[in-house]
Amino acid sequence: MQRIAIIGGTGKEGKGIAYRWAKAGHEVTIGSRAIEKAQIAADEINELLPSTAPQVVGMVNVQAADWGDVVAITVPYQAHAEMLNQLKEVITGKLVIDVTVPLVPPKVHIAQMPPAGSAGNEARSILGEETPVAIAFQNISYERLMEVGDIDCDVLVCGSSKQAREQVLGLVKDAGLIGWDAGPLENAMVIEGLTSVLIHINKTYGSKEAGIKITGVQKDRNL
Ligand SMILES: NC(=O)c1ccc[n+]([C@@H]2O[C@H](COP(=O)([O-])OP(=O)(O)OC[C@H]3O[C@@H](n4cnc5c(N)ncnc54)[C@H](OP(=O)(O)O)[C@@H]3O)[C@@H](O)[C@H]2O)c1
Repeated sequence: MQRIAIIGGTGKEGKGIAYRWAKAGHEVTIGSRAIEKAQIAADEINELLPSTAPQVVGMVNVQAADWGDVVAITVPYQAHAEMLNQLKEVITGKLVIDVTVPLVPPKVHIAQMPPAGSAGNEARSILGEETPVAIAFQNISYERLMEVGDIDCDVLVCGSSKQAREQVLGLVKDAGLIGWDAGPLENAMVIEGLTSVLIHINKTYGSKEAGIKITGVQKDRNL
C-alpha cells in the first residue's frame, strides 16, 4: 500500500480518485490551498468508505506533497505550472501522476495544446529528469469515479519511464479500471487532447460519461 497525496483533491476529479484509492487500502491525503477545505473533502470521502478502509486526511498542498510517496496533480490547467513550481522542492524524486488536462475555457470541446505539447511534458520540463512523471485518468469523468464497483472504461497511461508507467498501471488497477501502457510522455498530447473529443461527444449526445475502450487486444483485468 502506498501513501498518495492528491493535490487539488478537493475538486471533482481528485475526490473521485482519492475515494477509489482509499477504498483499495492506500493511505490517501487530500491537498488544498486551504486546510479547512481539505478536511471537509476528506470527511466527505470518509463517509463513503467502508469502515475497513484507511481514513483519508486533509492537508495544505505542500504538506500533502511532502507526506506522499506518490503525488497526483488534479488542478485546472491554469494553475498547473505554478503549482508544480511551488511543490518542486518537496516532490523531487517522487512518482508524479498528472491528471491535468490543458483545457482552454470556454471552448473546452476543442483541443488546444500548450507550448510544451501537453501538460505531462510541461510537468517533466518543470520537475526535471530526477522526477518520474506519468499521466493518467484524463479520459474518465468524475461521475464515473464515484460509482461503487469496477468501471467499464479504460485508462491510457504515458510516462517518462517504463517503470513509472508500470507503477501507475498498478494504481489504475487498484482504482478498479483497466489501464494500458500508452508509451512515452510524448504521446500525452493525444490522450489529453482526447478529453476535448469526449466533451464534444458528451455535448452532442446528451451524456456526461463518455469514455474510451481499447479493442482488438486480449488483456486480463489483472495485468
Ligand atoms: N472533472 C472531470 O471529470 C475531469 C476528468 C478528467 C480530467 N480532469 C482534469 O483534472 C483536473 C481537475 O479537475 P476538476 O474537475 O477536479 O477541477 P476543479 O474542481 O475545477 O479544481 C480542482 C481543485 O483545484 C484547486 N484549484 C483551483 N484553482 C486553483 C488555482 N488557481 N491554484 C491552485 N489550485 C487551484 C481547487 O482546490 P482548493 O481550492 O481546495 O485549493 C479545486 O478544488 C483538471 O485539470 C481537469 O481538466 C477532470
